[in-house]
Amino acid sequence: MTGSASSRGRLTIALPKGRLLSRLLAHFASRGIDLSFEDRKLIAEDETGLFKAFLVKNSDLPTYVNHGIAGLGICGNDVLYESGHRFLTLLTFSFGRTKMCLAGRAEAEAASEAPRRLQVATKFTRFTQDYFHGKGIPVQVIKLEGSVELAPILGLAPYIVDLVETGDTLRANNLQVIETLKEIEVHLVANTSFYKLNYERINEIVERLKES
Ligand code: PRP
Repeated sequence: MTGSASSRGRLTIALPKGRLLSRLLAHFASRGIDLSFEDRKLIAEDETGLFKAFLVKNSDLPTYVNHGIAGLGICGNDVLYESGHRFLTLLTFSFGRTKMCLAGRAEAEAASEAPRRLQVATKFTRFTQDYFHGKGIPVQVIKLEGSVELAPILGLAPYIVDLVETGDTLRANNLQVIETLKEIEVHLVANTSFYKLNYERINEIVERLKES
């Protein structure tokens, strides 16, 4: 636990770059907490003195919270699971929900019907391995960092495991969901040590951010 996590009395929080950010900032603003990252700055403080916020890459967020650099973080359970770290889950938001899906070309067989080893390209290697091993299905996982939908098109792997929100990306690339593997939700999480030191203020924040 570093001393930087609640410097100057502010609660430190890591927020993820990307499509979730604008929804999160709007939700914070609706509760009177205005955070804005101007001029490509990656650190912001709100005027009420509650938060010092760090804008981090989604997949790096668990690392910052695990090390206690950020005491709090907001992130999908996809990324949290992938990190392998344990956090205290304080709140689940209604927005930002997606599905982790097995997808492939329209003619691909359903995984349950495929007797041979599944070849799957994905950013979510830990989840994919654990999911299929848990079902006793042998799987070969090929790690990619993005644009995963290219893998079946280019012949790297017949299947992908990826997040599906609107389904637009799959449709645009002539792919389809074969099976939904997990519902993904966005959580407010805490570093356990940070929570123990700041639980009163954190509990107040949780009440304020709750959607009734
Ligand atoms: C995510 C995901 C899919 C897409 C799904 O990618 O990996 O590619 O969104 O969304 P849709 O169902 O609404 O089309 P993201 O935009 O985060 O970019 P990435 O490929 O760089 O991870």
